[in-house]
Amino acid sequence: MITEYWKVDPVNPQSDIITRAADLIRDLQLVAFPTETVYGLGALASSSEAVAKIFAAKGRPPENPLLVHVSKIEQVKELVPEIPETARLLMDKFWPGPLSIILPCRKEVPAIVRGGKSSVGLRMPAHPVARALIEQTGPIAAPSANLSGRPSPLTAEHVRSDLDGRIAAVLDAGKTGIGLESTIIDLSQDKYRVLRLGGLPLEELQQVLDDKIQIINNESDELPHYQTSSRVIICQNERDFIDQQEYWLGQEKKLGIVSSKPGYSHIINKSDPVYYLDLGQDSSNLYTILRDAEQDGIQILLFSPLPQNLTGINRALLERINKL
Ligand code: TXA
Ligand code: MG
Repeated sequence: MITEYWKVDPVNPQSDIITRAADLIRDLQLVAFPTETVYGLGALASSSEAVAKIFAAKGRPPENPLLVHVSKIEQVKELVPEIPETARLLMDKFWPGPLSIILPCRKEVPAIVRGGKSSVGLRMPAHPVARALIEQTGPIAAPSANLSGRPSPLTAEHVRSDLDGRIAAVLDAGKTGIGLESTIIDLSQDKYRVLRLGGLPLEELQQVLDDKIQIINNESDELPHYQTSSRVIICQNERDFIDQQEYWLGQEKKLGIVSSKPGYSHIINKSDPVYYLDLGQDSSNLYTILRDAEQDGIQILLFSPLPQNLTGINRALLERINKL
């Protein structure tokens, strides 16, 4: 299959381009589209046939459920029998935005979407392109638009390198804003559980929910995470950082350094490429670094010691890095 790449304005998406993409979705094809977190790989949520194509294109295990993306609350009502008060509160406060909410779902939601579970993950993205698309098609099931186990895509180029020839089209609106997936909260059981830390900081959730939130790792998540051809090593302190460099230089491996400080001085071989990790409050370039290092043929990607006590999005980022 030949994948089409359509440039689209990220702020005021051209309606003819959105309509072309919506036609493909309605025709049960796959279209990758930008959200404010990462690029998603969309299929018509009401069609098992269309959603099955997502699993085939990504090589995703069938028991791993998908998030259903909506553009208005009315669409949520078609997916779940009721919206509990807590869910309503979170939707009012954080939607559209990087929070996914898991609720018990109607049995009409195709089993393939929910990985056979009795719940469904709901997300209302804030990106104008995502919203315009869903507005035309109705609910879209979408995981991140990468091969299963690879870093989530932050650009159309990232999507191309994983999925070219496997999907019908990509809406290219440039870089996504946050660069980290949505935070996921599971409200389908008695206790609130955060399954994934992401674009919405935990502190903001806690402000709204007085009850203690349990944070657990989602066992159904696509593992292993962030498979690239570079091996990632995280150094806890400066000594470790120096030792690791000496060791890998001795092994004649192509080394790349990740640092959050420009001009970091403890680098032994000055010709090693240095990737700058942006620890800004609202966005992350970690996934871009992982893909760039791979492209550059880096065999060992060494993280210099990072600041501790990170908050907000950076805490989620650190959790991701530690999973590498
Ligand atoms: O920011 C995001 O959330 C991006 C963009 C495209 O919206 N999407 C995304 O989807 O990251 P995905 O499929 O790569 O990650 C969603 C995670 C998966 O680990 C899946 O197991 C979990 O959400 N999930 C989805 N529905 C669930 C459910 N009903 N119960 C438990 N976990 C669920
Ligand atoms: Mg994913």
